[in-house]
Amino acid sequence: MLDDIRGRVTKDGIRIYEDADFAGMREAGRIAALILDDVGALVQPGTMTSEIDDFIRTEVARRGATSATIGYKGYQHASCISVNHVVCHGIPGAKKLAEGDILNIDVTVIVEGWFGDTSRMYAAGAINRKAERLIEVTHEGLMRGIEAVKPGNTFGDIGHAIQTFVEANRMSVVRDFCGHGLGRVFHAPPNVLHYGRPGTGAVLEEGMFFTIEPMVNLGRPETKVLSDEWTAVTRDKSLSAQYEHSVGVTAEGCEIFTLSPGGKFFKP
Ligand code: MF3
Ligand code: CO
Ligand code: CO
Repeated sequence: MLDDIRGRVTKDGIRIYEDADFAGMREAGRIAALILDDVGALVQPGTMTSEIDDFIRTEVARRGATSATIGYKGYQHASCISVNHVVCHGIPGAKKLAEGDILNIDVTVIVEGWFGDTSRMYAAGAINRKAERLIEVTHEGLMRGIEAVKPGNTFGDIGHAIQTFVEANRMSVVRDFCGHGLGRVFHAPPNVLHYGRPGTGAVLEEGMFFTIEPMVNLGRPETKVLSDEWTAVTRDKSLSAQYEHSVGVTAEGCEIFTLSPGGKFFKP
């Protein structure tokens, strides 16, 4: 396989980063997570999602970072905000949040060339029990996937851990979008599927950096992309949730780069 000057790429095309590179990811992840900690106060009935995005845009700059999404394939915003049946890539806009809405806010920053990519669920006011359960199961699905991250396990082990947990709770895993390698680039190999069979897929090695970002639906897993060419929604209009962390494989297991400094990841 092709080696380059620094580091190495596996036969599956996955870059292996060096020990010193963890520090860069840690800082990028920390800043992305801090911004998600701080945006929580804005999430309430009556707020326009564009106001949330404006805040994020300002915070990214104030913290000396760059937005990875502004200008990415023509995308114009500092976040994706996906409300209710929007699965991912919701475009911030003038629509106001309503009591009972659930939403994912996804932020990716670049700090000294390193990418930090994370998303969480937020609630506008009081939400119903079904929405609450969806959020709990999606968060727990991500954490079970992360527990499967260690050298020698495979990407299929990660997907399997997520899928079995979600389906045991009678919810479905979205197939049309996946996690991704990242590091000095936004989207790199591999595709990190949130479903799968144990022992399949590429073998995890120390120094791999990637996201895990399961999208879970209360109804069927199928999605469609709206005519704006970004917004992905559930075909059956059922509620959808997502959580995302950026992680690095260590000798022992993994390091989560995007942990919430304020302990607000699950319940902002
Ligand atoms: N942050 C998203 C991810 O988790 C990607 C957003 S790309 C955008 O991979 F252009 F829609 F912002
Ligand atoms: Co991502
Ligand atoms: Co993201």
